[in-house]
Amino acid sequence: MILHKFKNQAELDRVAADLMMSVVRGRPNAVLGMATGGSPVGLYQEMVKSYKQGLISFKEVRTFNLDEYVGLAVTHPESYRSFMQRNLFDHIDIDLKNTHVPNGNAADIEAECRRYDEALYQQGPVDMQLLGIGHNGHIGFNEPDTTLSRFTHKVTLKEDTREANKRFFNSLDEVPTHAVTMGMGSILHAKSILLVVKGQEKAEILDRTLNGPITTQVPATLLQTHPRVIVLTDCDVNYKL
Ligand code: GLP
Repeated sequence: MILHKFKNQAELDRVAADLMMSVVRGRPNAVLGMATGGSPVGLYQEMVKSYKQGLISFKEVRTFNLDEYVGLAVTHPESYRSFMQRNLFDHIDIDLKNTHVPNGNAADIEAECRRYDEALYQQGPVDMQLLGIGHNGHIGFNEPDTTLSRFTHKVTLKEDTREANKRFFNSLDEVPTHAVTMGMGSILHAKSILLVVKGQEKAEILDRTLNGPITTQVPATLLQTHPRVIVLTDCDVNYKL
C-alpha cells in the first residue's frame, strides 16, 4: 500500500479527484467504483469543478457503487442513489444508464445481488475502486465477522455503524438495519484501489488497516493483500515495514 499524508483536506480531495480523473483520461470508458459517506464528498466536488471547467468528460464512464441501504426509498435523500445524484451524477455529463447502484428495494434481494455481480463482472474489472472506511474497519458495508462474503450480498448493519450513520438521519430509528454491499472478492478484484480516510478519529483504525494482522474482524486489513492500493489521509499515521 502506498500512503500519502495531507495537512489539509482540500488538498487531499484535489489529489484524489486527479487520480480518479487520470484513469478516465487514460481510458474514457473506464469503470469507476464509487463510494458514499462523508469522505468522498469533497473529491466529487473537485470532479464536478473540473468538468465545469471543460477539463474532463464522463460521457462514456461506467460506475458501480459499493452499496445501498435495504428498504429505503430510492428517492429518500439518504439513499446512496440519491447521494450519488446529488453529489456527482446530476452535475456531470455521465450517461445515467451507465451508473450502477444496487437496488435495495428489490422484491427478491438475492436475485438483485446476482444481477449486480453479473453486470459488475461483465463490465469489470473496475479500473479504480474508491473506498472510505468505517470506524470498525468495514469497507462498503462488509462488517467485521468470522467470515466475509466474496460476492454482493445482504448484510445486517452493526449497531455502531448505524450509530455512525445516524448523523444523516433524524433519529437512529430511521437508519436502515440492512444493506446490500459488494463483497470483499469483488472489491479486491478492482485493478486499483483508492482509500480515502479523513479525520483523526479514524487514525487508530487506519493504523490497524496498514499495519495490523490481516483479519476478517477488520475487513479493511484484507487490502494489504492487494497489489495496488493508494491511501490518502489527513490522519497522523505511519506505514511500518
Ligand atoms: C458508510 C459506507 C462506507 C463508508 C463509511 C464511512 O458506512 N457504507 O462505504 O466508507 O460509511 O463513511 P464516512 O466517510 O462518512 O466516515
